[in-house]
Amino acid sequence: MTIHKVGVLGCGLMGSGIAQVSATAGFKVTVVEVEQKFIEKGFAGIEKSLTKFAEKGTLTEKPDSIRARLKGTTNKQELADCDIIIEAIVENVEEKKKMYESIDGIAKKDTIFATNTSSISVTELLSATNRPDRFIGLHFFNPVPLMKLVEVVRTIATANDVYDTAIEFAKKLGKVPVRTSDRTGFIVNRLLVPYLLDAIRAYEEGVGSIPDIDNAMKLGCGYPMGPFTLLDFVGLDTTYYITHVMYDEFKERRFASPPLLKRLVLAGWYGRKTGKGFYDYADPNKPVPANF
Ligand code: CAA
Ligand code: NAD
Repeated sequence: MTIHKVGVLGCGLMGSGIAQVSATAGFKVTVVEVEQKFIEKGFAGIEKSLTKFAEKGTLTEKPDSIRARLKGTTNKQELADCDIIIEAIVENVEEKKKMYESIDGIAKKDTIFATNTSSISVTELLSATNRPDRFIGLHFFNPVPLMKLVEVVRTIATANDVYDTAIEFAKKLGKVPVRTSDRTGFIVNRLLVPYLLDAIRAYEEGVGSIPDIDNAMKLGCGYPMGPFTLLDFVGLDTTYYITHVMYDEFKERRFASPPLLKRLVLAGWYGRKTGKGFYDYADPNKPVPANF
C-alpha cells in the first residue's frame, strides 16, 4: 500500500511534531483538533522548529513549501482521503475509543489507523473500530522532529502488509523503527516510566533536591536531561495518565503514581506546557526548581 496523505488527530506536543515530520518528508497532512486555537498553537511550534532547521540548512526545501502541505481543521470529514491516520490526542482510553469510533465511518476502508499512545493497549483501541487488521501503534518520541525512534507496535490482529507499510512509513519520515508487540508501555516506557517515578520517590524521601537529582543523572549517567526536566518536558498530566494504565496492567508499585505527582496534576501544574511543574518556567530560558 502506498501512503500519499497523512491524517493526524491532535495538534499538541506530539501531534504537531508528527504533522511536521510527515510534511517535511513530502506527505500531504491534515491535522484535526477540537478547537482552532489548538491548531494555531501547534502550528506556531511547527513554524519555530522549521525555522531552526532552515537556519541550520538541514531542510531540502523552503519552510513555505513544507507548510503548504499542512492543513489544520476542526472537521473530521476532511480525513476522508487519508491513507494513514495517526492519533495523538489525550492519553485517555475512553476519549481515544470515542475518537476511533467517530472516524471509522469517515476514513476509507483500507486506511491504516495508528495510535501514538504511550501506554494504552493498542488492542483495546482497535476494538472500537471495524478494521482490527489495519490498526497499529506508531509510538513517536518527544520532541518528534529531533528524536529518531519510532516504536512500531503489532497486535495479534495486525495484517502483515499493514505492519510492513508502517515500518516503511517510519523510515520515510527519517526515523528508525523498532518492532515491538502490544505490551503496556512497549519497550521504552516499560523501562523509562519506573525510572522517572523513582526519581520523584527519591525526592519525596529526601535523597536530593530537584536540581541535584537532575544534575546527578545528567552528569553521572550522561542522560541529556535529568528526570525532573524530562517529566516537565513530557507533561505531568500525560505521565499521570500513563501511571494509571501501567499500574492497572502490572499491579506493581514501580508503575504507581507517587503522591507528589498526583498533587502537581491536581494543581494544574503540568510542566513546561502550563509554565509550572517541578520547575517554574516564567523565564523559559532559566527554569527555577521547586522546593516542595
Ligand atoms: N525543532 C528543531 N530544533 C530543535 C527543537 C525542535 N523542536 N528543539 C531543540 N532544537 C534544537 C535547538 O535549537 C538546539 O540547536 P543548536 O544546537 O543550534 O543550539 C539543538 O536542537 C539542541 O537543543 P538544546 O541545546 O535546547 O538542548 P539539548 O542539546 O539538550 O537537546 C534534546 C535537546 C534533543 C531534546 C535533548 O535534551 C534530549 O534528547 N532530551 C531527552 C528527550 C527524551 O528523552 N525524549 C523522550 C521522552 S519519553 C517519550 O517521548 C515517550 C512517551 O511516551 C512519554
Ligand atoms: P498534549 O496535551 O500536548 O496534546 C493533546 C492534544 O489533543 C491537545 O491539543 C488536545 O486539544 C487534543 N485533543 C484532545 N481531544 C481531542 C479530540 N477528541 N480530537 C482532536 N484533538 C483532541 O498531549 P501530547 O503530549 O501531545 O500527547 C498526545 C498523545 O501522545 C498521548 O497519547 C501521549 O501519551 C502520547 N505521547 C506523548 C509523549 C510526550 O512526551 N508528551 C511522547 C510519546 C507519546
